[in-house]
Amino acid sequence: MFQMTQLIRNVPTITSKKKVFVLGVVFFVFIYLLIHVKSFQKIANNFIIRPCDNEHSRNIITQICSLYKSGEINGTLCEPLCNTYQVTFTKCLNYRSGKFVIQAECNDMCVPRVTVSAVLKMSRIKEASVKDYIESIGLELLRLVNSNIQTILGQMNLHNYSVSSESLSVITADLLKSEYGFLSRDNQNVLNNLWGNDYYTRFTGTVTSFIYARSYWSVVKQNEFRVSQFFNNWDVFPKIYAFCGPLYITENIPSLKSIDKLIPILSSEFPSWNKRATLAKQILNFVKRTDEMEHPIHFCDIKSPHFGFTYDDNVRFIDADLVIADEALSSSLGSLKCVKHEDCAIYDCQGWCDLKAGYCTKIRTNNNLQSVCAKIFRSEIISAYGGLLSSPPKHIADKLTALVNKCADEVTTNDQGVSMQRPDIQVLTTLQKYLNESLS
Ligand SMILES: *[C@@H]1O[C@H](CO)[C@@H](O)[C@H](O)[C@H]1NC(C)=O
Ligand SMILES: *[C@@H]1O[C@H](CO)[C@@H](O)[C@H](O)[C@H]1NC(C)=O
Ligand SMILES: *[C@@H]1O[C@H](CO)[C@@H](O)[C@H](O)[C@H]1NC(C)=O
Repeated sequence: MFQMTQLIRNVPTITSKKKVFVLGVVFFVFIYLLIHVKSFQKIANNFIIRPCDNEHSRNIITQICSLYKSGEINGTLCEPLCNTYQVTFTKCLNYRSGKFVIQAECNDMCVPRVTVSAVLKMSRIKEASVKDYIESIGLELLRLVNSNIQTILGQMNLHNYSVSSESLSVITADLLKSEYGFLSRDNQNVLNNLWGNDYYTRFTGTVTSFIYARSYWSVVKQNEFRVSQFFNNWDVFPKIYAFCGPLYITENIPSLKSIDKLIPILSSEFPSWNKRATLAKQILNFVKRTDEMEHPIHFCDIKSPHFGFTYDDNVRFIDADLVIADEALSSSLGSLKCVKHEDCAIYDCQGWCDLKAGYCTKIRTNNNLQSVCAKIFRSEIISAYGGLLSSPPKHIADKLTALVNKCADEVTTNDQGVSMQRPDIQVLTTLQKYLNESLS
């Protein structure tokens, strides 16, 4: 302590200069954070949220298995996870964005005769235990199918009850209709669509056990599960193999490493241009494919680690919590109150405030391509560095960077006077063309 004071006394001028400098830096960082308060909050959230914890992940699996063993949940994942140990815990991957994500090994269950890496997922629950959660899901289900047995729940033997396939189909169709504007056509089986092909083996005649029905409802309630199953045929999301109560297992697809924080000239990890341009082309193909889908979907949380690449270089969106179907986004937007346009954003999905009414309109003012340009191709923080398409080769740099900026920034005004940021297919194909040129 004494030495410290002496030191400070001995070099007063340098210290105070340093202090001013440090204070200045702190001040500017503070101002910067104030301006970027939204992104700052997001960063802060990542730290506040409980860190990934192997102990806790194991505990979730233990809870799931004890519910299975006491006959309270069911599903095709239960046996391999809890009895035959074909699915085994590897490590906790992350607990971000309200979800538990756990890496596992899957032997001869996910893919026949081989062992593959897989991911166990479950939404974060507000209940104290998985048991409490599954019970509240059960109550909700009973209410939805208009059962009058809920009054005796508690003393009843759950195994004596069943839910008809008709009731399950109706509540599932209602959910899909509100989200996708999806109306099941004659003979089209909505249960098949969300449950997977084995669903009919769970029915005795036209009824299934209440245990099974509530296990099904506990996964269907999770947006990522639902959206992945619903768009299963489009190869947009990782494949879901099975579920056991609210826990489900998917393909493990490695994610695109974020290069946001790498400074190109200082980091040897910064990938070569050819590598980056190829990734960008794949992402553009992905965006194009999702634009052609029958039911438009909105990627409201676009960031590098949410893009995954399969072994044969196909892109999958690996965190679908905030992938929102068109109808669902419209009604979410339409229910928001606002005093300025920024109030209408749902993460990256920007909206428009009807200032007179004080409510957001139902339109999204930007699109998936705009978000990709602004958040992946360009870095969010310092646009010239760290984005996937930063520092392109000289012969292409000017026009490519200008187009990326146009894609991210260009504002047009529609008939109703709403400012839109929706780069069109023309921008997308021109980007592809420039990327092709940059590689040749
Ligand atoms: C779970 O499902 C399997 C296969 O259909 C069945 O044999 C078993 O009895 C079910 N368990 C419970 C608790 O419903
Ligand atoms: C449920 O079924 C068991 C036999 O399977 C029976 O002993 C019991 O009384 C039944 N409980 C109710 C509430 O119906
Ligand atoms: C870019 O190159 C690929 C082949 O690598 C080709 O299929 C595609 O049509 C090209 N796109 C444009 C817009 O030139």
